[in-house]
Amino acid sequence: MTSVLNDSPFVRACRGQDVPHTPVWFMRQAGRSLPEYRKIRAGVGMLESCRRPDLVTEITLQPVRRHNVDAAVLFSDIVVPLEAAGVDLDIVAGTGPVIAEPIRTAAGLDRLRPITADDVSFVAESVRQLVGELGGTPLIGFAGAPFTLASYLIEGGPSRTYTRTKAMMYGEPELWHALLGRLAEITLTFLRTQIDAGVSAVQLFDSWAGALSEADYREFVLPHSARVLGSLAGAGVPRIHFGVGTGVLLGAIGEAGADVVGVDWRTPLDRATTLIGPERPVQGNLDPAVLFAPWEVVEREARRVLEQGRAAPGHVFNLGHGVLPDTNPDMLTRLVELVHTASAR
Ligand code: CP3
Repeated sequence: MTSVLNDSPFVRACRGQDVPHTPVWFMRQAGRSLPEYRKIRAGVGMLESCRRPDLVTEITLQPVRRHNVDAAVLFSDIVVPLEAAGVDLDIVAGTGPVIAEPIRTAAGLDRLRPITADDVSFVAESVRQLVGELGGTPLIGFAGAPFTLASYLIEGGPSRTYTRTKAMMYGEPELWHALLGRLAEITLTFLRTQIDAGVSAVQLFDSWAGALSEADYREFVLPHSARVLGSLAGAGVPRIHFGVGTGVLLGAIGEAGADVVGVDWRTPLDRATTLIGPERPVQGNLDPAVLFAPWEVVEREARRVLEQGRAAPGHVFNLGHGVLPDTNPDMLTRLVELVHTASAR
Protein backbone atom coordinates (compact mmCIF):
# COMPACT_ATOMS: atom_id res chain seq x y z
CA MET A 1 0.00 0.00 0.00
CA THR A 2 1.45 3.37 -0.95
CA SER A 3 -0.08 6.75 -0.50
CA VAL A 4 2.92 8.99 -0.33
CA LEU A 5 0.83 11.93 -1.57
CA ASN A 6 3.66 13.24 -3.71
CA ASP A 7 1.62 16.25 -4.79
CA SER A 8 0.81 17.50 -1.29
CA PRO A 9 2.45 20.80 -0.29
CA PHE A 10 4.11 19.04 2.66
CA VAL A 11 5.82 16.29 0.64
CA ARG A 12 6.71 18.74 -2.14
CA ALA A 13 8.38 21.12 0.34
CA CYS A 14 10.31 18.19 1.85
CA ARG A 15 11.68 17.53 -1.64
CA GLY A 16 12.52 21.17 -2.36
CA GLN A 17 9.81 21.43 -5.03
CA ASP A 18 7.64 24.50 -5.57
CA VAL A 19 4.51 24.73 -3.42
CA PRO A 20 1.26 26.78 -3.48
CA HIS A 21 1.94 27.80 0.14
CA THR A 22 4.43 26.91 2.86
CA PRO A 23 3.08 23.78 4.56
CA VAL A 24 2.73 23.79 8.34
CA TRP A 25 2.28 21.19 11.08
CA PHE A 26 3.27 21.21 14.75
CA MET A 27 5.26 18.74 16.78
CA ARG A 28 2.90 17.61 19.61
CA GLN A 29 -0.08 19.06 17.75
CA ALA A 30 -2.05 16.16 19.25
CA GLY A 31 -1.99 16.45 23.00
CA ARG A 32 -2.88 18.37 26.08
CA SER A 33 -3.35 21.74 24.38
CA LEU A 34 -6.63 20.31 23.00
CA PRO A 35 -9.68 19.91 25.29
CA GLU A 36 -10.97 17.11 23.04
CA TYR A 37 -7.68 15.26 23.67
CA ARG A 38 -7.88 15.66 27.44
CA LYS A 39 -11.44 14.36 27.30
CA ILE A 40 -10.72 11.24 25.25
CA ARG A 41 -7.60 10.43 27.29
CA ALA A 42 -9.37 10.71 30.67
CA GLY A 43 -8.73 7.47 32.56
CA VAL A 44 -6.66 5.88 29.76
CA GLY A 45 -2.89 5.51 30.26
CA MET A 46 -0.57 7.00 27.66
CA LEU A 47 0.93 3.67 26.55
CA GLU A 48 -2.46 1.99 26.51
CA SER A 49 -3.82 4.74 24.27
CA CYS A 50 -0.88 4.22 21.89
CA ARG A 51 -1.79 0.53 21.59
CA ARG A 52 -5.45 1.16 20.63
CA PRO A 53 -5.87 1.95 16.90
CA ASP A 54 -9.32 3.49 17.45
CA LEU A 55 -7.88 5.97 19.98
CA VAL A 56 -4.71 6.59 17.96
CA THR A 57 -6.81 7.40 14.90
CA GLU A 58 -9.15 9.76 16.71
CA ILE A 59 -6.37 11.58 18.59
CA THR A 60 -4.25 11.94 15.45
CA LEU A 61 -7.21 13.40 13.54
CA GLN A 62 -8.19 15.93 16.24
CA PRO A 63 -5.61 18.64 15.38
CA VAL A 64 -6.10 18.08 11.65
CA ARG A 65 -9.81 18.85 11.97
CA ARG A 66 -9.28 21.79 14.27
CA HIS A 67 -6.23 23.56 12.80
CA ASN A 68 -6.23 22.72 9.08
CA VAL A 69 -2.56 21.71 9.26
CA ASP A 70 -0.84 20.31 6.16
CA ALA A 71 0.15 17.02 7.80
CA ALA A 72 -0.97 14.70 10.56
CA VAL A 73 1.57 13.14 12.93
CA LEU A 74 0.91 9.65 14.24
CA PHE A 75 -0.11 9.64 17.90
CA SER A 76 2.46 7.41 19.57
CA ASP A 77 5.65 7.87 21.57
CA ILE A 78 9.34 7.23 21.02
CA VAL A 79 9.36 4.62 23.82
CA VAL A 80 6.58 2.48 22.25
CA PRO A 81 9.07 0.24 20.35
CA LEU A 82 11.18 -0.10 23.52
CA GLU A 83 8.22 -1.51 25.40
CA ALA A 84 7.66 -3.84 22.43
CA ALA A 85 11.31 -4.89 22.81
CA GLY A 86 10.64 -6.08 26.35
CA VAL A 87 11.60 -3.02 28.39
CA ASP A 88 9.46 -2.50 31.50
CA LEU A 89 8.53 1.20 31.30
CA ASP A 90 5.81 3.71 31.91
CA ILE A 91 5.05 7.22 30.67
CA VAL A 92 4.34 9.40 33.67
CA ALA A 93 2.29 12.55 33.03
CA GLY A 94 4.36 15.66 33.61
CA THR A 95 7.61 13.67 33.76
CA GLY A 96 7.97 11.50 30.67
CA PRO A 97 9.22 7.95 30.19
CA VAL A 98 10.35 6.08 33.33
CA ILE A 99 12.31 2.81 32.94
CA ALA A 100 11.91 0.22 35.73
CA GLU A 101 15.39 -1.30 35.30
CA PRO A 102 17.79 1.05 33.51
CA ILE A 103 20.27 -0.54 31.09
CA ARG A 104 23.83 0.04 32.29
CA THR A 105 25.62 -3.27 31.66
CA ALA A 106 26.08 -5.93 28.99
CA ALA A 107 23.55 -8.10 30.87
CA GLY A 108 21.11 -5.21 30.70
CA LEU A 109 21.64 -4.92 26.97
CA ASP A 110 20.75 -8.62 26.59
CA ARG A 111 17.28 -7.81 27.93
CA LEU A 112 16.71 -5.44 25.00
CA ARG A 113 15.74 -7.83 22.24
CA PRO A 114 15.30 -6.84 18.58
CA ILE A 115 11.70 -6.32 17.46
CA THR A 116 9.72 -7.58 14.48
CA ALA A 117 6.85 -5.86 12.70
CA ASP A 118 4.50 -8.20 14.61
CA ASP A 119 5.60 -6.67 17.91
CA VAL A 120 4.19 -3.31 16.78
CA SER A 121 1.31 -4.55 14.63
CA PHE A 122 -1.03 -2.12 16.43
CA VAL A 123 1.00 0.73 14.95
CA ALA A 124 0.61 -0.64 11.41
CA GLU A 125 -3.11 -1.07 12.06
CA SER A 126 -3.38 2.54 13.27
CA VAL A 127 -1.50 3.85 10.23
CA ARG A 128 -3.75 1.92 7.83
CA GLN A 129 -6.89 3.26 9.52
CA LEU A 130 -5.52 6.78 9.45
CA VAL A 131 -4.43 6.72 5.83
CA GLY A 132 -8.00 5.73 4.96
CA GLU A 133 -9.46 8.59 7.00
CA LEU A 134 -6.99 11.32 6.07
CA GLY A 135 -7.57 11.41 2.32
CA GLY A 136 -5.22 14.01 0.85
CA THR A 137 -3.51 14.94 4.12
CA PRO A 138 -0.13 13.23 4.56
CA LEU A 139 0.59 11.23 7.72
CA ILE A 140 4.02 11.57 9.33
CA GLY A 141 5.42 8.54 11.14
CA PHE A 142 8.27 8.86 13.60
CA ALA A 143 10.76 7.21 15.90
CA GLY A 144 13.30 8.22 18.51
CA ALA A 145 16.93 8.28 17.36
CA PRO A 146 19.40 5.89 19.03
CA PHE A 147 21.00 8.56 21.26
CA THR A 148 17.75 9.96 22.66
CA LEU A 149 16.37 6.45 23.28
CA ALA A 150 19.65 5.40 24.92
CA SER A 151 19.53 8.41 27.23
CA TYR A 152 16.15 7.27 28.62
CA LEU A 153 17.24 3.62 28.91
CA ILE A 154 20.51 4.43 30.69
CA GLU A 155 19.30 7.25 32.95
CA GLY A 156 16.01 5.51 33.73
CA GLY A 157 14.06 8.67 32.90
CA PRO A 158 14.49 12.28 31.81
CA SER A 159 17.82 13.89 32.70
CA ARG A 160 19.34 17.34 32.87
CA THR A 161 23.00 16.35 32.75
CA TYR A 162 23.07 12.93 31.02
CA THR A 163 25.72 11.88 33.51
CA ARG A 164 25.21 8.12 33.34
CA THR A 165 24.68 8.26 29.59
CA LYS A 166 27.99 10.01 29.08
CA ALA A 167 29.70 7.78 31.66
CA MET A 168 28.89 4.77 29.48
CA MET A 169 29.74 6.63 26.26
CA TYR A 170 33.21 7.62 27.51
CA GLY A 171 33.91 4.71 29.84
CA GLU A 172 32.56 1.71 27.96
CA PRO A 173 32.58 2.64 24.28
CA GLU A 174 32.10 -0.96 23.14
CA LEU A 175 28.96 -1.41 25.23
CA TRP A 176 27.80 2.03 24.08
CA HIS A 177 28.13 1.19 20.39
CA ALA A 178 26.48 -2.22 20.92
CA LEU A 179 23.53 -0.51 22.64
CA LEU A 180 23.17 2.18 19.97
CA GLY A 181 23.49 -0.46 17.25
CA ARG A 182 20.66 -2.46 18.82
CA LEU A 183 18.55 0.70 19.13
CA ALA A 184 19.23 1.59 15.48
CA GLU A 185 17.81 -1.85 14.51
CA ILE A 186 14.71 -1.36 16.64
CA THR A 187 14.17 2.14 15.26
CA LEU A 188 14.58 0.90 11.71
CA THR A 189 12.00 -1.86 12.16
CA PHE A 190 9.60 0.60 13.80
CA LEU A 191 9.96 3.09 10.92
CA ARG A 192 9.77 0.42 8.20
CA THR A 193 6.55 -0.90 9.73
CA GLN A 194 5.04 2.59 9.52
CA ILE A 195 6.28 3.11 5.94
CA ASP A 196 4.93 -0.27 4.81
CA ALA A 197 1.56 0.63 6.35
CA GLY A 198 1.40 3.88 4.38
CA VAL A 199 2.92 6.94 6.11
CA SER A 200 3.98 9.71 3.71
CA ALA A 201 7.11 10.79 5.63
CA VAL A 202 9.09 9.88 8.71
CA GLN A 203 10.75 12.00 11.37
CA LEU A 204 13.68 10.81 13.43
CA PHE A 205 13.60 12.60 16.81
CA ASP A 206 17.04 13.04 18.36
CA SER A 207 15.54 15.48 20.82
CA TRP A 208 18.40 15.47 23.32
CA ALA A 209 21.41 15.34 20.93
CA GLY A 210 22.09 18.98 21.83
CA ALA A 211 23.66 17.74 25.06
CA LEU A 212 26.74 16.64 23.07
CA SER A 213 29.78 18.41 21.64
CA GLU A 214 30.20 18.15 17.90
CA ALA A 215 33.21 15.82 18.26
CA ASP A 216 31.31 13.44 20.56
CA TYR A 217 28.21 13.58 18.36
CA ARG A 218 30.31 12.60 15.36
CA GLU A 219 32.10 9.75 17.12
CA PHE A 220 29.35 8.26 19.28
CA VAL A 221 26.03 9.09 17.65
CA LEU A 222 26.18 10.11 14.01
CA PRO A 223 27.12 6.64 12.61
CA HIS A 224 24.06 5.07 14.24
CA SER A 225 21.59 7.75 13.11
CA ALA A 226 23.18 7.70 9.65
CA ARG A 227 22.59 3.96 9.47
CA VAL A 228 18.89 4.36 10.22
CA LEU A 229 18.49 7.18 7.70
CA GLY A 230 20.67 5.52 5.06
CA SER A 231 18.74 2.25 5.27
CA LEU A 232 15.56 4.19 4.45
CA ALA A 233 17.05 6.15 1.56
CA GLY A 234 15.24 4.04 -1.02
CA ALA A 235 11.95 3.80 0.86
CA GLY A 236 10.31 6.54 -1.20
CA VAL A 237 9.27 8.83 1.65
CA PRO A 238 11.00 12.02 2.87
CA ARG A 239 13.09 11.59 6.02
CA ILE A 240 13.16 14.46 8.54
CA HIS A 241 15.79 14.62 11.31
CA PHE A 242 15.22 16.84 14.34
CA GLY A 243 16.94 17.73 17.59
CA VAL A 244 16.83 20.51 20.18
CA GLY A 245 19.79 22.81 20.91
CA THR A 246 21.67 21.49 17.90
CA GLY A 247 23.10 24.83 16.65
CA VAL A 248 26.72 23.64 16.66
CA LEU A 249 25.71 20.18 15.42
CA LEU A 250 23.73 21.24 12.36
CA GLY A 251 26.54 20.53 9.90
CA ALA A 252 27.04 17.04 11.33
CA ILE A 253 23.29 16.40 11.51
CA GLY A 254 23.08 17.32 7.84
CA GLU A 255 25.74 14.71 7.12
CA ALA A 256 23.64 12.03 8.83
CA GLY A 257 21.69 12.07 5.60
CA ALA A 258 18.05 13.08 6.10
CA ASP A 259 16.15 14.88 3.34
CA VAL A 260 14.98 17.63 5.72
CA VAL A 261 16.64 18.98 8.87
CA GLY A 262 14.44 20.22 11.71
CA VAL A 263 15.83 23.26 13.54
CA ASP A 264 14.90 24.57 16.98
CA TRP A 265 14.16 28.27 17.62
CA ARG A 266 17.69 29.18 18.67
CA THR A 267 19.17 29.14 15.17
CA PRO A 268 17.59 31.33 12.47
CA LEU A 269 16.69 29.24 9.42
CA ASP A 270 18.87 31.22 7.01
CA ARG A 271 21.88 30.67 9.25
CA ALA A 272 20.89 27.00 9.69
CA THR A 273 20.92 26.64 5.92
CA THR A 274 24.49 27.88 5.68
CA LEU A 275 25.48 25.28 8.32
CA ILE A 276 23.49 22.33 6.92
CA GLY A 277 24.24 23.04 3.27
CA PRO A 278 22.26 24.99 0.70
CA GLU A 279 20.69 21.95 -0.98
CA ARG A 280 18.62 20.75 1.97
CA PRO A 281 15.06 21.76 2.93
CA VAL A 282 14.52 22.79 6.56
CA GLN A 283 11.70 22.51 9.08
CA GLY A 284 10.92 24.92 11.91
CA ASN A 285 11.27 27.02 13.97
CA LEU A 286 8.97 29.42 15.84
CA ASP A 287 9.71 29.41 19.57
CA PRO A 288 6.75 27.53 21.16
CA ALA A 289 6.77 30.10 23.98
CA VAL A 290 6.02 32.91 21.50
CA LEU A 291 2.46 31.54 21.35
CA PHE A 292 1.97 32.94 24.88
CA ALA A 293 2.69 36.49 23.66
CA PRO A 294 0.11 38.85 22.08
CA TRP A 295 -0.96 37.97 18.53
CA GLU A 296 1.01 40.90 17.03
CA VAL A 297 4.21 39.30 18.31
CA VAL A 298 3.21 35.85 17.02
CA GLU A 299 2.52 37.35 13.60
CA ARG A 300 5.79 39.27 13.47
CA GLU A 301 7.83 36.23 14.53
CA ALA A 302 6.00 33.89 12.14
CA ARG A 303 6.67 36.28 9.24
CA ARG A 304 10.33 36.40 10.22
CA VAL A 305 10.52 32.58 10.23
CA LEU A 306 8.87 32.46 6.78
CA GLU A 307 11.32 35.06 5.47
CA GLN A 308 14.37 33.25 6.84
CA GLY A 309 13.03 29.93 5.56
CA ARG A 310 13.26 31.26 2.00
CA ALA A 311 17.04 30.77 2.17
CA ALA A 312 16.49 26.98 1.93
CA PRO A 313 15.25 25.12 -1.15
CA GLY A 314 12.19 23.99 0.82
CA HIS A 315 10.60 25.05 4.11
CA VAL A 316 8.11 23.20 6.30
CA PHE A 317 6.82 25.60 8.94
CA ASN A 318 6.76 24.18 12.47
CA LEU A 319 7.59 25.22 16.01
CA GLY A 320 11.18 24.90 17.21
CA HIS A 321 9.98 22.11 19.55
CA GLY A 322 6.66 20.65 20.62
CA VAL A 323 3.47 22.54 21.45
CA LEU A 324 3.53 23.37 25.17
CA PRO A 325 0.56 21.86 27.07
CA ASP A 326 -0.90 25.24 28.19
CA THR A 327 -0.91 26.70 24.68
CA ASN A 328 -4.20 28.31 23.61
CA PRO A 329 -5.22 26.10 20.66
CA ASP A 330 -6.89 29.08 18.95
CA MET A 331 -3.42 30.61 18.56
CA LEU A 332 -2.34 27.53 16.62
CA THR A 333 -5.39 27.67 14.33
CA ARG A 334 -4.72 31.34 13.66
CA LEU A 335 -1.04 30.67 13.04
CA VAL A 336 -1.82 28.03 10.40
CA GLU A 337 -4.09 30.52 8.63
CA LEU A 338 -1.38 33.19 8.74
CA VAL A 339 1.31 30.85 7.39
CA HIS A 340 -0.97 29.82 4.53
CA THR A 341 -1.97 33.35 3.52
CA ALA A 342 1.38 35.05 4.10
CA SER A 343 3.23 32.40 2.05
CA ALA A 344 0.68 31.97 -0.79
CA ARG A 345 2.36 32.22 -4.17
O1 CP3 B 1 1.45 15.25 18.06
C1 CP3 B 1 2.59 14.68 18.08
O2 CP3 B 1 3.65 15.31 17.93
C2 CP3 B 1 2.63 13.17 18.18
C3 CP3 B 1 2.77 12.70 19.50
C4 CP3 B 1 4.10 12.47 20.18
C5 CP3 B 1 4.13 12.10 21.54
N1 CP3 B 1 5.41 11.82 21.88
C6 CP3 B 1 2.94 11.97 22.38
C7 CP3 B 1 3.09 12.22 23.82
C8 CP3 B 1 5.41 12.49 19.73
C9 CP3 B 1 5.95 12.87 18.36
C10 CP3 B 1 6.24 12.07 20.82
C11 CP3 B 1 7.70 11.88 20.72
C12 CP3 B 1 8.50 11.99 21.94
N2 CP3 B 1 8.27 11.41 23.16
C13 CP3 B 1 9.73 12.65 22.01
C14 CP3 B 1 10.39 13.38 20.88
C15 CP3 B 1 9.71 14.68 20.66
C16 CP3 B 1 10.16 15.76 21.61
O3 CP3 B 1 9.31 16.26 22.33
O4 CP3 B 1 11.34 16.10 21.57
C17 CP3 B 1 10.23 12.52 23.32
C18 CP3 B 1 11.51 13.09 23.87
C19 CP3 B 1 9.30 11.71 24.04
C20 CP3 B 1 9.38 11.24 25.43
C21 CP3 B 1 8.23 11.81 26.18
N3 CP3 B 1 6.97 11.25 26.19
C22 CP3 B 1 8.17 13.02 26.92
C23 CP3 B 1 9.33 13.95 27.16
C24 CP3 B 1 6.84 13.19 27.35
C25 CP3 B 1 6.23 14.37 28.07
C26 CP3 B 1 5.98 14.15 29.52
C27 CP3 B 1 4.90 15.12 29.99
O5 CP3 B 1 3.85 14.64 30.40
O6 CP3 B 1 5.13 16.33 29.91
C28 CP3 B 1 6.12 12.06 26.90
C29 CP3 B 1 4.68 11.81 27.09
C30 CP3 B 1 3.84 12.15 25.93
N4 CP3 B 1 4.10 11.76 24.64
C31 CP3 B 1 2.64 12.88 25.96
C32 CP3 B 1 2.15 12.92 24.64
C33 CP3 B 1 0.87 13.53 24.16
C34 CP3 B 1 1.98 13.46 27.20
C35 CP3 B 1 1.35 12.38 27.98
C36 CP3 B 1 -0.13 12.58 28.19
O7 CP3 B 1 -0.79 13.31 27.44
O8 CP3 B 1 -0.63 11.94 29.14
